[in-house]
Amino acid sequence: MRTEEDKRPMTHYERIDSVHSSFVVALGEDASPRLVHFGRLLAPDADLHALDAALKRGPRESTPDAPVPANLFPVSGSGWLGEPALSGYHENGDGLVCWSSATMQRLTHEIHVVLRDDRIGLSAELLWRLDPRTGVLASSVRLTNLADSDFHLYALSSLSLPAPNWASDLLAFSGDWSREMQAHRTPLPTGEWSSTNRTGRTGFAGASFALLEDRAGDHTGRILAIHLAWSGNHRLMTSTSPGGARQASAGVYLAPGEVVLRPGGSFASPTAYACVSQSGLNGVSDAFHPFVRASILPVRRDSTRKVHFNSWEAAYFSFDETSMRRLADQAADLGAERFILDDGWFLGRRDDTSSLGDWRVDPSRFPSGLDAFITHVKSLGMDFGLWVEPEMVSPDSDLYRAHPDWCAHATGLARRTMRNQLWLDMARSDVRDYLFAQIDVLLRDHDIACLKWDCNRFLDPAVSGGRQAAERMIRGTYELMDRLRRAHPEVDIESCASGGARIDLEVVRRCMRVWTSDTTDALERLAIQRWSSIIFPMETLGAHVGPSPNPITGRTIPMEMRARVALFGHMGVEADPGRMTETDRKALADHIALYKHHRGLLHSGRHVRWSTRDGAEARMTISEDQGEALILACRADVASHAESAPLSIPGLDPAARYKVSLPTPWPQIAARRLADPNLWREGRVFDATSLGDAGLSLPLSDPQTAWLLHLTRI
Ligand code: DGJ
Repeated sequence: MRTEEDKRPMTHYERIDSVHSSFVVALGEDASPRLVHFGRLLAPDADLHALDAALKRGPRESTPDAPVPANLFPVSGSGWLGEPALSGYHENGDGLVCWSSATMQRLTHEIHVVLRDDRIGLSAELLWRLDPRTGVLASSVRLTNLADSDFHLYALSSLSLPAPNWASDLLAFSGDWSREMQAHRTPLPTGEWSSTNRTGRTGFAGASFALLEDRAGDHTGRILAIHLAWSGNHRLMTSTSPGGARQASAGVYLAPGEVVLRPGGSFASPTAYACVSQSGLNGVSDAFHPFVRASILPVRRDSTRKVHFNSWEAAYFSFDETSMRRLADQAADLGAERFILDDGWFLGRRDDTSSLGDWRVDPSRFPSGLDAFITHVKSLGMDFGLWVEPEMVSPDSDLYRAHPDWCAHATGLARRTMRNQLWLDMARSDVRDYLFAQIDVLLRDHDIACLKWDCNRFLDPAVSGGRQAAERMIRGTYELMDRLRRAHPEVDIESCASGGARIDLEVVRRCMRVWTSDTTDALERLAIQRWSSIIFPMETLGAHVGPSPNPITGRTIPMEMRARVALFGHMGVEADPGRMTETDRKALADHIALYKHHRGLLHSGRHVRWSTRDGAEARMTISEDQGEALILACRADVASHAESAPLSIPGLDPAARYKVSLPTPWPQIAARRLADPNLWREGRVFDATSLGDAGLSLPLSDPQTAWLLHLTRI
């Protein structure tokens, strides 16, 4: 005879752990996988059933007799009336999905759930992998049409989960050209919040991530961080039902008719990544940075991030071979290690109105040939990089004249240009073959170490062969990148899209760096790099010293400030050294030397951000063993008091003493306000407790002041 206990619906639990966190899924007889826990590491013998029971609710008024709890893959046919993780319909079907069976299996660090809807003929394989070292969760879904009619897919979330009960706020991002990563914090809204991007790129609006948090700070508070690794249209979403059930999701955004699964056909979602931090924004980086370094970034023989010199803001389209050689000489004098020839080098390209698609060197720009120029660059001790924009075509180009049907276009609609260009139909294999052949020959014929891969328009209309195809076109771009990488594994790729409109972990899987923003204004960059670096480690974020006054904002900014902000990234220069003062050139060369000296630390250590009481900003990279640190302390505006707040330094080894020195050149305010300059020149010793509590009183009250501090444990 079955006891009462036995009559309880059977629930199966699986858990995966990382060093600091656990992820627990429950699967009952209702075939709907539920999240039991995503957060702190549970005790090895934690009673998962009790944990689950603690969250169960009894019946209440005006709800279905069989309650429909929030789950990890909610669908409409099960009575879930919030945002479904999947929507679509079979020809002649009713558009409802309801799982009839489910199985769950755990491999060492992964949980797999296979859901089947036998009524309509559909299956979904859900996969969650918790990275054991960092606690970053990877979540993806594969959908298969088991019926004998087509399935029209409307929406599929890569990750869908109940929002944590402690989350009170949402930190999300918007952005525009040269204004990437504008942070907005709002209370988690009742109803729905969504950030939808239909531009065919990751977008300026923040590297597709959102943070659900409890008014977290730099070091404190809990955060659920979600990022969709996808370089095209997407939607991030949170919703709160009238009854209070809260869900968060991230997935590719599909246009009508875009994905139709033939009988037996499958669709694999992009991967979404998530982590739960118990220590604020820095805790999110503590999970993501080592994860990206170990599991996402392409493996390279030499991972040293060379100092780039990029010709764009130095020359734009106004150059010839002689002036470019001069620029290369000056770049080498500064200490640059890689010279990137930006836009304008190919056949007929004099401005942005023509020639995209004709990837052949323009002999009128380089009468002695590109090889002669590259030899010159190499003789100066630098390697050579080249700008390309493979997915684009100018209507005024040989390519377009030969293949006017190769661009993404919709019959009967005008071909709307943006920056005078159209997007090639990357869903077509003949287009990809052409681009592969063009770029492959460039890479075979010339000694090119790096491609700067640009993308300067929206993907609109994203139509291929009469159907919406944004998703297939982005996969086409990945395929082209992958094919070129296989053929030329030693060539680095930098991802750029009018600045920072293509920054996500799927592109970073293929690229060693991203161009964070077209603005090189150091004050704008402070904020843009701060937010981008929450997920992306500093060595991936291209950061260049630009001209002053800045060509985009018009601001005049001291060289120390420009150079120090660029130093906390993958440093480069994008300005004409011939237009700098001798003092600035010297200061820049000194900072490039400093970058080279410290990049091993900067690109491997723990990155910590914080602000002083009166709004000065600090960034620190500290080695894993806490033995060495480099700090940038700076401010954009005037401090409210001349006696600016001291800088306390968190995250040091509490038992240690550190020698603190202030690398030169010091900001101008030092001459008037620094106490004991001579002692600072030698470096001074403090214990970690006093550095963490009382801090250091550096003059930090003037606008555009930037100090560097170097700490070594003694
Ligand atoms: C946009 C990029 O963001 C710039 O850095 C530069 O490469 C231009 N395109 C060149 O056209």
